[in-house]
Amino acid sequence: MSKLLILFCHPHVARSKANAALLGATRGLEGVEVAHLDGLYPEGAIDLDAEVARLIAAERVVLQFPIQWYSTPPLLKAWQDSVLTRMFYMAYEAEGRLIAGRPLMVAATAGNLPEAYSAEGVNLFPLAELLKPLHSTANRCGLAWQEPFLLFRANRLEASALQDAAAAYRTRLQALLAA
Ligand SMILES: Cc1cc2nc3c(=O)[nH]c(=O)nc-3n(C[C@H](O)[C@H](O)[C@H](O)COP(=O)(O)O)c2cc1C
Repeated sequence: MSKLLILFCHPHVARSKANAALLGATRGLEGVEVAHLDGLYPEGAIDLDAEVARLIAAERVVLQFPIQWYSTPPLLKAWQDSVLTRMFYMAYEAEGRLIAGRPLMVAATAGNLPEAYSAEGVNLFPLAELLKPLHSTANRCGLAWQEPFLLFRANRLEASALQDAAAAYRTRLQALLAA
C-alpha cells in the first residue's frame, strides 16, 4: 500500500522542466509512489485492473499534470473515464466505496501568469475555478478535496524559482503525508 500516490501525466515529459523539478522534490519521501501514466501507457491503452488496484492501494492521491487547454492532458481524462467510471458507476460496492474519504490533491503547472487567470486577464477565470470539474469529480467520488498546488509561468521560471517551487511542493506533500 502506498501512503501517497502521485498519478503523473505529461505527454512530453522529456521536454518538461517544471514537472520534472516538482517530481525531483519527491525523491527520498518515504511511502511515495509515482505512476507516470504516459510512460506506462504510451499507446494510451490503460490497464484498468492494474490502475483500479493501484488507486485502491493508495492512502492519499495527488494528480500532477501541466494544464493543457484549461484542463488535464488527454491521458489523465482517459484515466478518469476508465478507472473512475468503473469504480464509481459500475463497481461502487466492491471498489469505489473502498477509497471513500481519502484525500485528493491536484498539483498543476500553468504556462500563463496568475494575472492572466482573472476576470481582467486573457483566461477570464482563476485557475482554481477552472479546476472545478476535478473538484466536483472528487466530491462525487467521496474523496477529500485538498487545496491545489499551483505553479504559474511554469515554462518560464529560472532554475532558482523552480528550486523554490520544488521545495514548496515537497513541503505540501510532507503535510499531506502527515495528515
Ligand atoms: C497543448 C498545450 C496546451 C496548453 N494549454 C495551456 C493553458 O490552457 N493554460 C496555461 O496556462 N498553459 C498552457 N500550456 C502551457 C503548459 O501548461 C506549460 O508549458 C507547462 O505547465 C510547463 O510545465 P513543464 O515544464 O513540466 O512542461 C499548454 C501547453 C501545451 C503544450
